[in-house]
Amino acid sequence: LFSSALTLTMAFSANSALAACDEGEIVVKFSHVTNTDRHPKGIAATLLQERVNAEMNGVMCMEVFPQSSLYNDDQVLEAMLQGDVQLAAPSLSKFEAFTRQFRIFDLPFMFANIEAVDQFQASDTGQAMLDSMQRRGLQGLGYWHNGMKQMSANVPLMVPTDAEGLKFRVQPSDVLIAQMEAMGASPQPMSFSEVYGALQTGVVDGQENTWSNIWGQKFFEVQDGTTQTDHGIIDYLVVTSVDWLDGLEPQVRDQFLTILSEVTETRNAESFAVNEVAKQSIIDAGGVIRELTPEQRAAWVETMKPVWEQFVDDVGQVNIDAAQAINE
Ligand code: LMR
Repeated sequence: LFSSALTLTMAFSANSALAACDEGEIVVKFSHVTNTDRHPKGIAATLLQERVNAEMNGVMCMEVFPQSSLYNDDQVLEAMLQGDVQLAAPSLSKFEAFTRQFRIFDLPFMFANIEAVDQFQASDTGQAMLDSMQRRGLQGLGYWHNGMKQMSANVPLMVPTDAEGLKFRVQPSDVLIAQMEAMGASPQPMSFSEVYGALQTGVVDGQENTWSNIWGQKFFEVQDGTTQTDHGIIDYLVVTSVDWLDGLEPQVRDQFLTILSEVTETRNAESFAVNEVAKQSIIDAGGVIRELTPEQRAAWVETMKPVWEQFVDDVGQVNIDAAQAINE
């Protein structure tokens, strides 16, 4: 694992700080799973690394490990609690073992767009969620946006019944499992790094993801096409361990958190545009993208939305109402 992580990191990031950390610097390993190019998270992580290493030189040194080159999302939170990695930004769907509050972000058609997600996260409820796993040793530092999810498969998907009987890869989230079951499909939880191979070999027939992930992992190459359903969202929690954060000198912690919040604001404002670039890249590479008529889209809403009822107790009706009020 170590040697492949090293090779990948060197190949992916010419300005990787691996060799640049000086003795005495606080080393911050940031492990994530996506590509760095044309990806909201990849770009934000690179910018964070550049700023920390330039502005905190001599004090702190960040090493970013993209593309699951150090850990996949199933492992990274445990590794963080062990102190083997200091920063991660898993999608909000990957915290099931720690909290059920984030399930609201997985409910299909809960948020009309990423601005609505942003507003919900900025509310008192959204901000309180950052602290909701402290007891379990994890501290949320902020939310990073990706974008709206689209649906792809090895057959054209125009109405939900087209997905009946197909196997879909899902992130390890009970909401997403329920959503696929509502479509009559068979959900298969699997880590991100395994999806391309699973699609290619037919272990699964389809998957749901953002344009930047469909582009970055080249899913479009091994699918019949992607349908623009915009049925859900992928967003991230930038997360660290309570122990590590508490162990920093106040001044160092403040400087680090200030840089992080500036990077968050700058890059979140660009997340939609980055996904549009990725979408265009898919088209330019010959990938098929299908648009829905309003009637077809209504059929997806009708099939998926009843899933909310199963999770009201976990996410709270007041929060559902708050999210819906933002959409209006
Ligand atoms: C996925 O597993 O599909 C995504 O959460 C990957 C990511 O980090 O965007």
